[in-house]
Amino acid sequence: MDQSITFTEKDQLKAKPESVQLGFGKYFTDYMFEMDYSLEKGWHDPRIAPYAPVALDPAAMIFHYGQEVFEGLKAYRAKDGRILLFRPEKNMKRMNQSCARLNIPKIDGKFVIKAIKKLVAIEKDWVPTEPGQSLYIRPFIIGTEPFLGVHPSGSYKLLVICSPVGSYFGRNTKPVKIYVEDEFVRAVKGGVGFAKTSGNYAASLRAQTKAEELGFDQVLWLDGVEHKYIEEVGSMNIFFKVDGEVWTPELDGSILPGITRDSVLELLKKWGVPVKEKKISVKKLFKKAEKQKLEEVFGTGTAAVISPVGFLKWEDRVVKVANGETGKLSKKLYETLTGIQNGTIKDDMGWTQEV
Ligand code: COI
Repeated sequence: MDQSITFTEKDQLKAKPESVQLGFGKYFTDYMFEMDYSLEKGWHDPRIAPYAPVALDPAAMIFHYGQEVFEGLKAYRAKDGRILLFRPEKNMKRMNQSCARLNIPKIDGKFVIKAIKKLVAIEKDWVPTEPGQSLYIRPFIIGTEPFLGVHPSGSYKLLVICSPVGSYFGRNTKPVKIYVEDEFVRAVKGGVGFAKTSGNYAASLRAQTKAEELGFDQVLWLDGVEHKYIEEVGSMNIFFKVDGEVWTPELDGSILPGITRDSVLELLKKWGVPVKEKKISVKKLFKKAEKQKLEEVFGTGTAAVISPVGFLKWEDRVVKVANGETGKLSKKLYETLTGIQNGTIKDDMGWTQEV
């Protein structure tokens, strides 16, 4: 796509929140990126404009049939003042995989990265400076055609919004508590589980409420057919260190192919830690835990980063992992990953890109 991105400046910038107020996804920056798609013009009219409500026809297809995909990536401020993105080409590749599944026209990933870099450069003062904080970038596409027939939309809007964030769970370094859901399911093979689309998250909300009512932070999903095998957590992929070996569920079509998941796998392989992507039976895992062989559990995600898990509940069984504290491997992974992202550790993997 070879179009120039226009910029409409606003007169009055917003007051920025204090770093202690950030949390996750509560504040939004001054500008957003937007472009439209029509059958006649393809993707067109790329622009950066003041952050503002989006006017849509009430019949727009997004409101009725949920034709949407989204992504999440972050901009990090390095000590020397540079602003870095982490593997943005992976987000674009996954967005196009999600688009293909949701019957949304493909985007030009290189062009959207260029737009994101331009947006982040304009918003550079919003990129937090405190450790553990960053600017979360949320690209998303919605079907905008006003039509009530169940059919792919003929028009779309791609938007990119930005939010300065701290810890997703608001627990800082405290391990999270995970509840294994045994009634509802998130996804099945052949469905949309591997795609980053709103429906997966909408379908998770009832169980998330259940987990919170029981005093847990997130839901750990089992496979949608047998309810036996571990898939992923509401907002992150999941890893287990069992008897010196690291396990994570294999990508089988119903699990989100996380970019942090992939980065952790690459780091573990580089460090020579034995790691397996495989089917993980919840029963077998709890047996290992009861024999004191479950050494660590952690979640991975752009928002979640590396989130150690301190407690796991399945049916009437609760296990405490690593004494409810952060395990050694989780800590090393967190420090290495965030060090690369913040430019304090040399990026041998070629994962970061300067804005
Ligand atoms: C992310 O980690 O970027 C996500 O999209 C997870 C989430 C907050 C739904």
